[in-house]
Amino acid sequence: MRVADVPTPALLVEVAAMERNIRRMAAFFAEGPCRLRPHFKAHKTPEIARRQLAAGACTGLTCATVGEAEVAAGLSPNILIANEPIGRSKCDRIAALAAGAELTVAVDSAAGLAEVAAAARRAGVAIGVLVDLNVGQNRCGVAPGADAVTLARRVAATRGVVLRGLMGYEGHLVAVPDRIEREARARRAMRDLVDTSEMLQAAGLPSEVVSAGGTGTYDISGRIAGITEIQAGSYVLMDSDYGRLDVPFEQAFWVLGTVISRPDPARCVADCGHKSMTKDHGLPTVRDLEGATVVALHDEHATIALPPDAPVRVGDRVHLRPSHTDPTINLHDVFYAIEGDHVVGVWPIAARGYSEHRSSATVR
Ligand SMILES: Cc1ncc(COP(=O)(O)O)c(C=O)c1O
Repeated sequence: MRVADVPTPALLVEVAAMERNIRRMAAFFAEGPCRLRPHFKAHKTPEIARRQLAAGACTGLTCATVGEAEVAAGLSPNILIANEPIGRSKCDRIAALAAGAELTVAVDSAAGLAEVAAAARRAGVAIGVLVDLNVGQNRCGVAPGADAVTLARRVAATRGVVLRGLMGYEGHLVAVPDRIEREARARRAMRDLVDTSEMLQAAGLPSEVVSAGGTGTYDISGRIAGITEIQAGSYVLMDSDYGRLDVPFEQAFWVLGTVISRPDPARCVADCGHKSMTKDHGLPTVRDLEGATVVALHDEHATIALPPDAPVRVGDRVHLRPSHTDPTINLHDVFYAIEGDHVVGVWPIAARGYSEHRSSATVR
């Protein structure tokens, strides 16, 4: 199959660019001591995760949901759910996974800890725990310092779970445009994480894992003594939001659309709207069409403003660069893997939509 024959809207992954991203990131972490734990939620695609793991320098995979972990556990024996699992059915599914993999979850409350530990005891397994710190994102996480040590003590004293250390995702900083400001603020956030890890150790508590980082901070947080692993995900495919930064990764995926209308010289319309790509980080950009700008995304339509003499006809293909990787990919079933004009594979996005209930463990 050639790219021209791919039914649209479709997701394309340029294999060579993706492989270069994977190699660049693996080379950075090969120097150690910090390791990479690629975030599976970015692409949810086993074929991509296998290539990330094969490139080396990885501790395992990061996931955001139990459904992702159920897919990822078939790819790596070491899975971190960098998120707080709450609810009996989720915790029981995690315990089932922990029978066959080293499984670690984030915890930021006594109530959450109790649910995870109870599931582990019911299943007769041990589930690893990282105490989640709020390092400034103001999402989940306990405050660094004494609160974190108190929760860590409780984890260490609870049957069914094993305290492995801490995590603190500096997600509020990964896209700060100015490198100097990003670096200074990330260093301060990571100081809180490392200081708290040292407090755990001083209290005789284990803290062998200190997990943080994303695509915009991997080379800052990943070189700070005491941070043991980085959870970057977007680097492998990139998006236009990260494309504004100074990170050394290439755009490797596109939404492919077909022009279905050219109602006037200054405008064309393609068949890919916000059911094909999200716009939470802004509208997509257009490749290879000088002066073309996406001005609106409707459900199934992208409206593109054109210079009046643009050589665009009904039936032409357009490559759009999404503004946000993860939720865009979650809208598709497969990637068309391409080399030049050729489709060299159709890769299932196996964990797409597995925010929770679609897992084989719960759907019959
Ligand atoms: C907890 C956590 N860790 C790591 C990442 C990966 O970040 P990035 O996509 O910037 O690589 C995310 C992304 O949202 C996240 O939520």
